Amino acid sequence: MLDVRINSFSEYKKAYRESVENPEAFWDNIAEQFVWRKKWNKTLSYDFSKPEFKWFEGGQLNITENVLDRHLEKDGNKTAIIWEPNNPLEESRIITYRQLHAKVCRFANVLKNNGIKKGDRVCIYMPMIPELAIAMLACARIGAVHSIVFAGFSSSAIASRINDAQCKLVVTANEVYRGEKPINLKGIVDEALKDCPSIQTCIVYRRALEPTLMVGGRDKFWMDEMAKANADCPAEQMDAEDPLFILYTSGSTGKPKGMVHTCGGYMVGSAYTFDNVFQMDANDIYWCTADIGWITGHSYIIYGPLLCGVTTVMFEGIPSYPDFGRFWEIVEKLKVTHFYTAPTAIRSLAKQSLEFVEKHDLSSLKVLGSVGEPINQEAWHWYNDYIGKGNCPIVDTWWQTETGAIMISPLAGITSTRPTFATLPLPGIQLMLMDENGNEIETSTEKAEGRLAIKFPWPSMARTVYGDHQRYKETYFSTFENAYFTGDGAYRDAMGYYRITGRVDDVVIVSGHNLGTAPIENAINEHDAVVESAVVGFPHDIKGNALYAYVILYDEFEPSEQLIKEIKDEVDQSIGAIAKPDKIQFVKGLPKTRSGKIMRRILRKIASGESDFGDTSTLLNPEIVEDIKNNAL
Ligand code: WT7
Repeated sequence: MLDVRINSFSEYKKAYRESVENPEAFWDNIAEQFVWRKKWNKTLSYDFSKPEFKWFEGGQLNITENVLDRHLEKDGNKTAIIWEPNNPLEESRIITYRQLHAKVCRFANVLKNNGIKKGDRVCIYMPMIPELAIAMLACARIGAVHSIVFAGFSSSAIASRINDAQCKLVVTANEVYRGEKPINLKGIVDEALKDCPSIQTCIVYRRALEPTLMVGGRDKFWMDEMAKANADCPAEQMDAEDPLFILYTSGSTGKPKGMVHTCGGYMVGSAYTFDNVFQMDANDIYWCTADIGWITGHSYIIYGPLLCGVTTVMFEGIPSYPDFGRFWEIVEKLKVTHFYTAPTAIRSLAKQSLEFVEKHDLSSLKVLGSVGEPINQEAWHWYNDYIGKGNCPIVDTWWQTETGAIMISPLAGITSTRPTFATLPLPGIQLMLMDENGNEIETSTEKAEGRLAIKFPWPSMARTVYGDHQRYKETYFSTFENAYFTGDGAYRDAMGYYRITGRVDDVVIVSGHNLGTAPIENAINEHDAVVESAVVGFPHDIKGNALYAYVILYDEFEPSEQLIKEIKDEVDQSIGAIAKPDKIQFVKGLPKTRSGKIMRRILRKIASGESDFGDTSTLLNPEIVEDIKNNAL
């Protein structure tokens, strides 16, 4: 827990005011809460036109000394991680701060023994087991940059991420358990590594006793390497602005962007927001159901909670196994006090019989959280009434991979909540709403709707797109002058509360996962029968949005179920199952502007069953719209 906890709404307002009037003094005070080897000499320097942002310049630190070492004296025997396996009959694992420290140090030496040095990139492709946390912190310990790839991604998705970052080593597990049947993770990695010349070593954790094919000279078992490694590993001294990790997020065009987060600013931002949004007491138990392969898992399963010295739960499985009561069974078993999940999970659980909820004692719960997409009224009320029993504030937290930490959220128990509103910006976060001409809509405006931007830097912002600073500039800093563009639309009411209305670009949030439509179209276009395709999102009861693909076939191909399956397989192989379209409609053409740009607005409306398409006069081929509409699925 930090000593910069906000305890009342008036304290929030005061902190917010101070953070705007004097941002440097505000963040200085927070940064001073941490262990630094050497204090920074400049709090912030920035230039939106480059764009370049530097926080705590000259400061020297190692984040793992803050995550681990600093807790040892007083809280060494406190539980850092409670791991809950996929199979409820398997034992949980309890890992104290001291044990976690020891394992991280030992695995850090494993990395060193395998030639990894400060600045090298390490890919981690692992299931939700404690070794994933150990591997990421071990990288941070020696100053290697971790690039975690969600273990649901396909081999070609891993390969492109490994190649983009030129990773030298990959850490994986032989199997992953999620639900009924195990998945051979190592097999997927082997496939990926056929195209990854930069990889020298693959370390394999044996999650299952299954025989595992090992490639000589490249593959090594985690256990054997740990047995050989030294226990002691002093932390590497890092500059505040040195990279801590890369995490890929899909963009609306081209390949995924490797967002680069830094040691100092990310530490300060993730811990400060965790502490204030969740408002935990020392003995509370916190559980975020996300996967560490996403930013939510980075910031709010590992770094935020462990920096604050609390107990964090890691769950290997899925909400529906062995039945739809699994989340609630775990809450009861571990006496979880703070529970953080995604609207898509809430919606899918709300569809099930209430018995799954009612047979469990949820009285330990104090605070509920939501993240990843707008939460609709119905889901909000179900969460509030049946899970929180009307007694738990819901923190609807808005943020992004790029922001590193929560930007807009109620502070639990302090900010009054309102269904579907992420409410107010955290101290230090200066938002603005922009109208269609790119002008700021004044804050004094009673009610406003526009595009959401942030007009002042904050410590946990991503500093660049790995290897492509130009793309960083174009994507986030070219839409508006001297501001970061979020890609989201938002509504602001008379109280200044924000509600996020969704993406305004070609990114679709499916089950809380950020998917760019362009890479999916590229995958579909790989199929020999396909001339061109366009993918859009449409509203879906459970997933929030699902994908609808419009596909043009070459003349010699006839639409068929078989073709639909093959196209879905293309997407599965190139990106992963989460990106498979729910609907595929074969069309004769796509509505295009004279400049050849697909009019997605129209396709989105058709996919959502709407018929008012607005102005279609700029279309090159207006006749195609009727045709697509008449054959819509
Ligand atoms: C996009 C970022 C940040 C963690 C997970 C997603 C949407 C996120 C909310 C929320 C409405 C939300 C936005 C954002 N989003 N949280 N509370 N209310 N929308 O990270 O994959 O980088 O996606 O998720 O559209 O831009 P991500």
